Amino acid sequence: MRKKIVAGNWKMNTDFKGGLKLASEVMNMVNDEVMDDIQVVLIPPFTHLFGIGQLIKGNKKVSLGAQNCAAHISGAYTGEVSAEMIRSVGADYVIVGHSERRHLFKEDNSVVEEKVKLALSYSLIPIFCCGESLDERNNGRHFQIINSQLEEALFELEKDELLKVVIAYEPVWAIGTGKTASPYQAQEMHHFIRTTIKEKYGEDLANTIPILYGGSCNAKNAKELFANADVDGGLIGGASLKSRDFTDIVKSF
Ligand code: 13P
Repeated sequence: MRKKIVAGNWKMNTDFKGGLKLASEVMNMVNDEVMDDIQVVLIPPFTHLFGIGQLIKGNKKVSLGAQNCAAHISGAYTGEVSAEMIRSVGADYVIVGHSERRHLFKEDNSVVEEKVKLALSYSLIPIFCCGESLDERNNGRHFQIINSQLEEALFELEKDELLKVVIAYEPVWAIGTGKTASPYQAQEMHHFIRTTIKEKYGEDLANTIPILYGGSCNAKNAKELFANADVDGGLIGGASLKSRDFTDIVKSF
């Protein structure tokens, strides 16, 4: 059985007080309403990590993640936050290669690869994001794009390293647009990702690695997305900012 994961990427939203309130509401609802076999991950802004880490300390169902990490170990990189720092405040996960980082901050596959390796070396679980743009899909290049993102940023890893990675398929055209991938499109791509991993690393690893869907996933469409054989949960943006909506998504398996 693969791990089921629903992660809330808050992006650059909430102040510290609002973030603590949201985290504590989610934690209480998850404690009361959610089965033990689902892992919930809260991914607030950096400034909230320590506080929310303290709040959820010891909770088995709710974990903490960061939205990004530096591509360097330490040193003169003003404004950057290292994987080691993130780990030291109690986070278990870190998002790498989110499309907003790739597009707005010009991170390419080699930077993403560096971040994946650093995350792993500090015992963080990378949530590796991949996804195609609308143009790329319309031109029939979506499989090729995802394949090169996997090849160039992940496939240098050893088997025992890749085993620790979580993949999130987030089609860029679905992020924050209200346009969700259809259950068919999501399953088709998740299956492609799993098959690509199988060809390179074998069936056992391919069957173990969780692949999450992200992009306008909400309490209404989560059920039909999560029902697909290769969809193991979601990476949720906008809908993770409301505790009721987010918990309802978590309960959509
Ligand atoms: P939305 O759920 O707001 O579309 O964002 C998805 C996302 O980018 C999660 O990382």
